[in-house]
Amino acid sequence: MSDWNRPIIEEFRANGGKVGGPFEGADLLLLTGTGVKSGRPHVTPLGYLERDGVLFVFASNAGAPDDPAWYRNVRADPRVTVEIGAETFDGVALPVDGDERDRIYSLQGERVPAYAEYQRQTDRVIPVVALHRASAAGRAWALGDELARIHDDLRGRLADLRAEILAVPDGRAARAPDLGRRLREHCVSVCDVLGEHHDGEEARAFPRLAARFPGLAPVLARLRREHVQVTETRRRLLELVEDPGDHDPARVRAELEGMIGRLEAHFAYEEEQLGGVLNAVGPLWRSGPPELEARDGAAG
Ligand SMILES: [Fe+2]
Ligand SMILES: [Fe+2]
Repeated sequence: MSDWNRPIIEEFRANGGKVGGPFEGADLLLLTGTGVKSGRPHVTPLGYLERDGVLFVFASNAGAPDDPAWYRNVRADPRVTVEIGAETFDGVALPVDGDERDRIYSLQGERVPAYAEYQRQTDRVIPVVALHRASAAGRAWALGDELARIHDDLRGRLADLRAEILAVPDGRAARAPDLGRRLREHCVSVCDVLGEHHDGEEARAFPRLAARFPGLAPVLARLRREHVQVTETRRRLLELVEDPGDHDPARVRAELEGMIGRLEAHFAYEEEQLGGVLNAVGPLWRSGPPELEARDGAAG
């Protein structure tokens, strides 16, 4: 916390959410997010407006030209903790767009004229952020868990393919006449499901995450680069098993081990970076979930 905020935060916590001095009587809450760069908790006192059971906060930065740090943080990770009065709850911070944003901001400007003044001072459209209760959202659309389930299914298919190849004695296809057919069956199953899954991520899940959470851009860029690498390995693997004359198990095995290693690292990184965010926002994704593209072509 900054030196400026520290005494406010301490007074807030010591007095059940009440603060005197310049903030006497103001509606104040404490928002804790995660620092984009530091990865550490970042506490900020913020004025709020409550409407229909939802809390709204305003990235005014007192009319400064730049967005405040707390706002940049929730644009990378919307999972927050909210302290209001003596209560603390886990929340999900999502910006409000369009007419809804304008309506909420002018309400706040009427209640607290300083906010109308902040908007006059800056060219930024001051963002309005809704703080939803994570518990109220439920687990209906735990998209992060769904992502992990799809990955687990792919991990299983890759393990089957690997076992198939390891079962072949060293040597060429001449000594394992049906290797080509069996490899093709497994490869086509793995490669099709994987291709569909990545296409779904690129076409739907990633663009939606990018639009909602600009702070995730470096993570999404890395995941896209990894998809390109996986596609290239997939193509080589399919070439190997499509060539009926030369099924060299050692070469197929080496390609496959490389592909499995890259995929395991990719799945782990994707789950680590996106799993929590997807679980948090899934239930609140009003325009529908970002399909992650499931196994066997089924939705879910
Ligand atoms: Fe992926
Ligand atoms: Fe994935």
